[in-house]
Amino acid sequence: MLSPKLEEALNQQINAELYSAYLYFSMATYLSSIDLAGCAHWMHAQTQEELLHSSKMYEYVNERGGRVVLNAIKAPKTQWASPLEVFEDAYRHEQHVTSLINSLMELAISEKDHATQIFLQWFVSEQVEEEASANGVVQRMKLAQASPGGLFMIDKELSTRPVPFVLATANKA
Ligand SMILES: [Fe+2]
Ligand SMILES: [Fe+2]
Repeated sequence: MLSPKLEEALNQQINAELYSAYLYFSMATYLSSIDLAGCAHWMHAQTQEELLHSSKMYEYVNERGGRVVLNAIKAPKTQWASPLEVFEDAYRHEQHVTSLINSLMELAISEKDHATQIFLQWFVSEQVEEEASANGVVQRMKLAQASPGGLFMIDKELSTRPVPFVLATANKA
């Protein structure tokens, strides 16, 4: 059984993952509106990843005999000044999520819940990847500012990102 504190914290993280999906979905709509189809595609893939994260947590809470309770998801930002600003926001958001995952891990340690610590290790590693991929786009966009076709090339590159398949049984994938 999960401790009530951990059950509550994991539920909050499910909400945070769903908010991440909503935020990236909103970023995709902005990128579509300025005709950057490749960048929008990248954000759609990111949205799917976040849904996968929420599904993993949902299944884990259930497996441990907890109860998932869904709460309101706050409205995301809807407008940005440039594609660079979008990816800077995404990078900042991933840094924030990393701090949430680290706090969850600290709680699992203080609650002496070993299974949850092992479960959260996947998220700790995933955050390293998440920060690196968002920051990678930020850096390439900054470089592209100097060359006229740069943004076009990045858009083409981002259009090739594979979209993860969200399974109902995320933990078994
Ligand atoms: Fe996530
Ligand atoms: Fe993420």
